[in-house]
Amino acid sequence: MRSLTTILVTGGAGFIGSNFIHWLLGRADFQGRIINLDALTYAGNLENLVDIEARYGAAAEETGAARRYFFVQGDICDRSLVERTFSKYQIDTVVHFAAESHVDRSILGPEAFVRTNVLGTYTLLDVARQAWRLPSGAMREDVLFHHVSTDEVFGSLGEEGYFTEATPYDPRSPYSASKAASDHLAMAYHHTYGLPLTLSNCSNNYGPYQFPEKLIPLMILNMLEGKPLPVYGDGRNIRDWLYVEDHNEAVWTIMQEGQSGRTYNIGGENEWENIRLLERLIELVAEEAGLDAARLRGLITYVKDRPGHDRRYAIDCSKLKKELGWKQSVTFDEGLRQTVKWYLSNPTWVSRVRSGAYREWIEKNYTSR
Ligand code: NAD
Ligand code: TYD
Repeated sequence: MRSLTTILVTGGAGFIGSNFIHWLLGRADFQGRIINLDALTYAGNLENLVDIEARYGAAAEETGAARRYFFVQGDICDRSLVERTFSKYQIDTVVHFAAESHVDRSILGPEAFVRTNVLGTYTLLDVARQAWRLPSGAMREDVLFHHVSTDEVFGSLGEEGYFTEATPYDPRSPYSASKAASDHLAMAYHHTYGLPLTLSNCSNNYGPYQFPEKLIPLMILNMLEGKPLPVYGDGRNIRDWLYVEDHNEAVWTIMQEGQSGRTYNIGGENEWENIRLLERLIELVAEEAGLDAARLRGLITYVKDRPGHDRRYAIDCSKLKKELGWKQSVTFDEGLRQTVKWYLSNPTWVSRVRSGAYREWIEKNYTSR
């Protein structure tokens, strides 16, 4: 098992990254430090990490405890900042979440995706390669770069079949194309320069802190506000859903025990047609919020399809299960219910995120930079 001690988490203020930081710092068997490098785009929100900052950040030092959480605001494309961060904190591990991540936005404006996902990933890889090279020219072996990717790089499935680690890449959206490019760069850095590296391709995540532009939080909040529930096309596209904590546990398992130079698929083995998922979500929101399910169903609105909308994603994650012993631990019903409850109990987070006012809140309430 690798010993990972000073971990650069990129994109740690986003949905999966902030859940990862909570999850890892909550583990008694992890005593290392986390350095969170995030540009705080519209999707990055330090409010997700207020309790982490209070417990493990600068405030921890005041109580005599060792500081284990540091935040660096900056862009992964900014090479000199990335170099300074590697050298200041003596980074030995990278887990790279930072990305532009929403397919619809990539259709409207692909450039930011190419910049962050391709150029940003290249910058991190190249700085890691330089920082981790020994004077002899050989690469350190006690380091790791873990690249977090998506199943969307594999393209679209018909009614049958699953994506395996051997499935050829066939990305269809600017988002998935930019992620595919970053995956290829990551693997190239392993093969060409010997960079110790693992890579994971995961299916759709859901859970707390997800920005309400993605299907599940968008639908929950629209239901609470009595707004239309926009279903793209015929609503019969299929996604495989995984609770965010299960994803993070898989990422950590791969980081500790995965073989360098290999990719691992992560999935929920939990396929749902969008419209069926929405019907289940309506029942849960109705129960948890005391709303009328029939009235919520009346909000379903079929809208024009997303261009190039992938029909079905389904992941074969048997390699990860067999080789590294990971398995999902949260059922879809449990995870969805927890997610609904989280959005119901955090109305101020929701309203600040929706209005963009959380930036003002951060300025006022967040002291450590
Ligand atoms: P997100 O959009 O919620 O968060 C992305 C984070 O990256 C934000 O905090 C943002 O501020 C930061 N960021 C963006 N551009 C940056 C830049 N140039 N420099 C520094 N920071 C920057 O995304 P997410 O849903 O948490 O996804 C995290 C990773 O997981 C992404 O790489 C994504 O491709 C991958 N992934 C996501 C899913 C999913 O369902 N959400 C599934 C599989 C894989
Ligand atoms: P999304 O959450 O954007 O994830 P991805 O496109 O990366 O899989 O969308 C999940 C599915 O839900 C996808 O098939 C598109 C569909 N969808 C809608 O039908 N309506 C919506 O408003 C959104 C955001 C997505």
